[in-house]
Formats: sequence, C-alpha cells, structure tokens
Amino acid sequence: MTAKPTFYITTPIYYVNDIPHIGHAYTTLACDVLARFKRLDGFDVMFLTGTDEHGQKVEKSAAAKGKDPLKFCDEVSERFRELAKFMNISNDDFVRTTEQRHKLACQDLWRKLEASGNIYLDKYAGWYSVRDEAYYAETELTEGEGGEKLAPTGAPVEWVEEESYFFKLSAWEDALLKWYENMPETVLPKSRKNEVKSFVEGGLRDLSVSRTSFSWGVPVPDNEKHIMYVWIDALTNYMTGVGYPDVGNEKFKKFWPADINMVGKDIVRFHAVYWPAFLMAAGIEPPKRVFAHGWWTNEGQKISKSLGNVIDPFEIVEEFGLDQVRYFLMREVPFGNDGDFSQMAMINRINSDLANDLGNLAQRSLSMIFKNCDGKIPDVNGFTSEDEKILAAADNLLPQVRELMERQSINKAIEVIWKVVGDCNVYFAGQQPWTLKKTNPERMGTVLYVTAEVVRQIGILIRFIMPDSGHKLLDQINIDPDKRGFEHLGSTGRLVSGISLDKPVGVFPRYIKAEDK
Ligand code: MSP
Repeated sequence: MTAKPTFYITTPIYYVNDIPHIGHAYTTLACDVLARFKRLDGFDVMFLTGTDEHGQKVEKSAAAKGKDPLKFCDEVSERFRELAKFMNISNDDFVRTTEQRHKLACQDLWRKLEASGNIYLDKYAGWYSVRDEAYYAETELTEGEGGEKLAPTGAPVEWVEEESYFFKLSAWEDALLKWYENMPETVLPKSRKNEVKSFVEGGLRDLSVSRTSFSWGVPVPDNEKHIMYVWIDALTNYMTGVGYPDVGNEKFKKFWPADINMVGKDIVRFHAVYWPAFLMAAGIEPPKRVFAHGWWTNEGQKISKSLGNVIDPFEIVEEFGLDQVRYFLMREVPFGNDGDFSQMAMINRINSDLANDLGNLAQRSLSMIFKNCDGKIPDVNGFTSEDEKILAAADNLLPQVRELMERQSINKAIEVIWKVVGDCNVYFAGQQPWTLKKTNPERMGTVLYVTAEVVRQIGILIRFIMPDSGHKLLDQINIDPDKRGFEHLGSTGRLVSGISLDKPVGVFPRYIKAEDK
C-alpha cells in the first residue's frame, strides 16, 4: 500500500491573558475545516493548536488576578480546550508552552541559532509594547491624546533598557526575499505577501530575543538570567507538536515542514518574517505557506473589551446552533478578507441557505419517497438529459472544491456546493414530482431518486464544514457509515435502489427569535 499524502496545519497558539472569543474560534474553525477536508480527501493529517502561556502580558494578567502564573494558565488554557471540543474541532494535539516538551524544543532551537552564529549578546534600549509583545522603532510610533507614545496598533509602549541577546535578523534579508520570490504562494493572500515583502525591503534590524526584567518564560540555555522573547518561544510550538528536537521521529519526518501556518492578519510579520528567518538560520525548512485571514467586526464595530462588544463563541453557538455558526463563519466572508458579524446576516444564512435551500430540498424529496415509494429508494429505468445534467453537476463538484480549498478559498468552495443545491431545487421544482405522482409514477420515482442522489453527495461534501449535519443528512438515506468519504462521491457511489428509509426528520430547522416563538 502506498503511503497517504500528508498535510500539517497549525493555528496560532492563543494568549491566555484573555478568554476565548470569536476571533480565536474563527482561526481554529478555519483550520478545522481545512483539516477535515484533507482527511476526507485521503490525506494523513496533523492538526495542531494550543496556548501561548509565557511573557510579560500573561505574567501581568495572573498578577492582577492574584494568581500563581501556572495556575492561571492552567485555568485559561482549559477554556481553550473546552472551546475546541464544543466547536467539534478535530485537532490532533494541543501544545501548551509551559510543557516540558516545549521547553526542550525552544532550548534546542536556541542552541542551533547560537551555534550557527546567529545570536549574540548586547544591550537593548528601545520601545516595547507588552500588549503586542513586540519591539518598535521610534519612527513607527504615534502620539496618543494625552501625548503618550503609541505603537502602530494603538497599544501603549514602554522604554526598555537591558542586557539582551539579539538574533541577526538583518543577515536574513536576501534569503527572505528569495523565499518570497521562489515560492510565490508561500504567503497568502497576495496583499499580505506584498506587505511583508516591502517590510523586508525596507531593511531589517536585528531582533532582541531575550529579556531579563521578568521571569515568566523559557530560560536561555547556559544563561538563566535571561528568558527567551515570547515570540521565539511561541513560534517554536509548531515544531514541538511534531516531536522536535527529535527530528528523527516519525512525526517530524512525516509532517515537517508545515503545509499551512494559519494566522490572523495582525501577526503575519511574526510568521512570515521572523519565523522563516529563525528556521533558515537553524538549518530547518520553513513552512510551505503562511495564510493570513481577516478580522471580524461586530455589527460594524471593532471588537474590543473596552467597547464591551466581544462575541462569546459559546453564547452564539448556544443561540444559533453549532453547524449553523460553523457554516456562517466560513460562508459569509471571502477567506482572507475582514468580515462583519451581524445577527441579521446570521439568521439570513440559517433560514435561507440551510433551512430553505438544502433543508427543504432534502426534506421534500425524502418525505415524498417515504410516503409514495413504500419508504424505499425508487428504481430507475434510464435518465433524461435533465437528470443527467444535475447528476453531472454533483459528480463534478469535488475537483472544483478541491482546487478552491488548495488556495484556502473556503467561502468559494461553499458557494460552488450551494450552486448545485440551488440547481437541484430548480430541477425538483421543474420536474414537479407531486404532479407525476398521478400521471407517471415511474418518472416520479426517477426524479426522486436523482434528487436523493444529489442530497447524498451534498451530505458527504458538507462534512468538512458541518460534520454533524452531513452525517444526519446521510443517516436519512441510510448510507453506510463507511461509505461517507470523498471516494464515494460521483457515479461510483450512486444510491442503491430499494434501500429503506426511516421517516425523514428535518436537519436544518428555521431560526425563530425567542420572542416570536
Ligand atoms: N499568541 C499569539 C500567537 C502566537 S502564534 C505562534 C497571539 N495570540 S492571540 O490570542 O492574541 O490571537 C490569536 C489569533 O486570534 C490571531 O490570529 C488573531 O488574528 C485572531 N483574532 C483576534 N481577534 C480577532 C478578530 N476580531 N477577528 C478575527 N481574528 C482575530 O496573537
């Protein structure tokens, strides 16, 4: 048996200074959808997520709550695990940066950087933002209303002066530019690639990579007065998850380098400049792709704790349903662009795309089979050109969806699936099986067969977006649980006539506001 192709995808690891919100849920969900797609498509997948637990920001948050930092991290990290479970996320591992395996990975990477002459000891004097955990040049700063200095992100900065190790980032300018050039799709979307490319072209300064003024982090090997800069520590998690520093282990050999490091647009510089530079300097292959997605606003407003409009993913899932939220977040916005979360848009998607378009198509056709065909998938004696057209549309979906998913165009992939759902509704309405019931029952059977076959294929195809609902649809037509993979799409997996159905139950209920119930 030939080995399956592999696919390694990672989420950013989440700071534990904050409880999970919609932004975290979104990044993780997108990775889940990509990971599930690849698994269904026959890949051996490694999907990693986790929490980023070191650094001044976390140390300060724990202190503000009067808690021991590790105890504080345990609690918040657990909340991120719960979110993953709650949202039916299929991650294969969960890295916490406070774990011993991660400390070993960071220290090994550090040693490699030091041994290759990429790290030196000096003194840092400059601006630092704890909120962003980032260093800024004087020229990048702006002035706030009270005259205070602010980072380009609006975060406050403080003057830091201390002994520090530096990473020779400036030495990696050419290598990075070559990497962007030789691997044109290594940073996506293109606009993000242009952004990092011009940042590098503008000249890189060496990066301060250790701190001495606080202690919540991974100690620098052989100089424990220093702890590593939280981003070196955090980025290394992508290696910890596949067993680094043991590069001879099966996982590392199989999955490194990552196929996709998924990030939000705010942290693209860390991933598409610093990270590949660290890796190249250590003689390790950089990721194949860094994909930066956009940000969500809430009813048109920037989401922020101070505005009190943070969207709690647990709450919206309770309100609208898990698969409904998964569908909305992936369908509403071209992946890579910013998007706006609004109740109205969510309700529209639920009632129109899910309840009306797909839900009704399945419910109407399967109920007719249940009532009029003895509860069995009808026999077919030949197809008309209209039947063949809609069957071909369903049969041809996978290659189109696959091509879009290769570029992480998740919302377009959903659109092409829903185009066939729409076409099948048109087919069903045009064939009028309810009229054929009296005039030509055999033809009615064929129309119902064709519609149920399209529903079967859609049920399989939507499993990467809405895993539970996909299964529920397939349960309605009694599809064997091992016949639900992508290899059963198309004409080879056609519905078998004579299979008995149970009484169909709707899979996608309409959303009705509590006060209108
Ligand atoms: N700990 C770092 C990442 C280290 S990865 C080696 C970090 N953590 S974070 O918790 O602040 O953010 C994690 C992710 O959430 C980022 O990708 C960020 O873009 C995303 N989001 C935070 N708010 C968001 C929205 N409002 N909308 C969409 N995603 C957003 O950064």
